[in-house]
Amino acid sequence: MQTVTRIEQLRAIIRQWRRQGQSIALVPTMGNLHAGHIALVNAARRRAGKVVVSVFVNPTQFGEGEDFEAYPRTEQEDVEKLQLARTDLLFLPTVAEIYPQPALVNVAVSGLSERYCGASRPGHFDGVATIVCKLFNMVQPDLAFFGQKDFQQLAIIRRMVADLDFPIQICAVPTVREADGLAMSSRNGYLTAEQRALAPRLYQNLCQIRDAILAGQTDYRELADQHLRQLSAAGFQPDYLAVCRPSDLLEATPADRELVILLAARLGRARLIDNLSFTR
Ligand code: PAF
Repeated sequence: MQTVTRIEQLRAIIRQWRRQGQSIALVPTMGNLHAGHIALVNAARRRAGKVVVSVFVNPTQFGEGEDFEAYPRTEQEDVEKLQLARTDLLFLPTVAEIYPQPALVNVAVSGLSERYCGASRPGHFDGVATIVCKLFNMVQPDLAFFGQKDFQQLAIIRRMVADLDFPIQICAVPTVREADGLAMSSRNGYLTAEQRALAPRLYQNLCQIRDAILAGQTDYRELADQHLRQLSAAGFQPDYLAVCRPSDLLEATPADRELVILLAARLGRARLIDNLSFTR
């Protein structure tokens, strides 16, 4: 695996691969890699001749008072995991390399970015869309891989690619879970042992909601409220819980067949998100 920190080095390698006729996949990450990230790399390897992974903790997607400073940085372990996963190129830029001057241009995917996580983290998805847009311009991949765990992020990136005509195929990879159902996340490391034991309740609640809908429940708001109360009583500070349409993330109606349940809740220091999509 080659590792580069400068955009011009990255571009030189990509140019060489293009001359060889290689197809290129990008897996954007913020590091602290776990099995969920490795699933993205493996999926990318199956679909492209060369796999580029970026590791960059992007400051612009963290709000005031959020965990940018505390976000786990585990560069050495990440390098080893990426080597084992047979990554071709690791792009490991500094903040100064990515943002040499205060940016005057930002990408905002309106509407989609303002609901759910966007409502509690104003500006977060503008930061995400802008860095993903910049990485797409730097790498110019044929394919880019994102986890379904960040369902809203994925919807926003798909919309950005469609509206800005990026010639890039966005590939979604299913959420990787711990044995007890907890979705893998770098932020799970913030949980105490007691909170970690409680955390799988999120996925259990999602499964219960899905089962209730499949059994004929059609009052989605009431169902969501009932489970929000349960999660609060269990010790979570729920942020939102909504039954939506996967296509536009608007609230679902009983006429919709394709559904996704979106959930975010705080547990101690960690803000955890999860989702479950299914066909009714
Ligand atoms: O999902 C993430 O890890 C980040 O939001 C991403 C897509 C790498 C952009 O910084």
